Amino acid sequence: MRNYDLEFLKKFSLVIGFLMLVTLGLILGALYLHHQLPPEVDPSAVKRTQERIAPVGAVYAGATGAAAQQAAAAAAAAKAASQVAYGGTLDGQVIYNNLCTGCHTSGAGGAPTLDQAHWGPRLAKGKETLHKHAIEGFTGTAGVMPPKGGNPALTDEQVVAAVDWMLANLK
Ligand code: HEC
Repeated sequence: MRNYDLEFLKKFSLVIGFLMLVTLGLILGALYLHHQLPPEVDPSAVKRTQERIAPVGAVYAGATGAAAQQAAAAAAAAKAASQVAYGGTLDGQVIYNNLCTGCHTSGAGGAPTLDQAHWGPRLAKGKETLHKHAIEGFTGTAGVMPPKGGNPALTDEQVVAAVDWMLANLK
């Protein structure tokens, strides 16, 4: 190896070594800066967490707390009340086909089917009574008619509509 080759290698290694140091410095600097920044949290993740802990995470203390608790309970009750069965339809046929049919088509549990023969004595009680019995429930000699056919989410009007549809469709 000639002298100037040695000289070149020496300088070249120095340059490479210097560049490696610069690289290392840049890496360490970037790491340092990265740790200076607050970690970024996905806002949708935060929202999900808050929703999850909301039932127990709320603080109810003192008079304002009691008022807030009452408001929350009222809001929950209003929400439950707004969840009317079958989209609040007043179409008796829809309600019948979704619920009443379970007993009144097959006659399960002694339920009167939509045959005229089953309804003569019942009609004699008057429509009002039949409405009332469907809403409040009725235990007769045939069996047990559960209040609102067993779905308390039905409104009284919906039950009345279902009864009227049944009476209009006796065979
Ligand atoms: C779990 C079964 C069942 C379901 C569901 C049901 N019924 Fe009944 N229903 C009965 C039985 C059993 C009777 C007969 C009770 C008796 O006279 O002993 C009856 C009777 C009735 C009567 C006559 C009441 C009377 O005074 O004679 C009406 C009206 C009535 N159901 C309407 C409905 C309507 C409307 C629905 C749907 C919203 C419905 N039922 C859902 C079982 C059911």
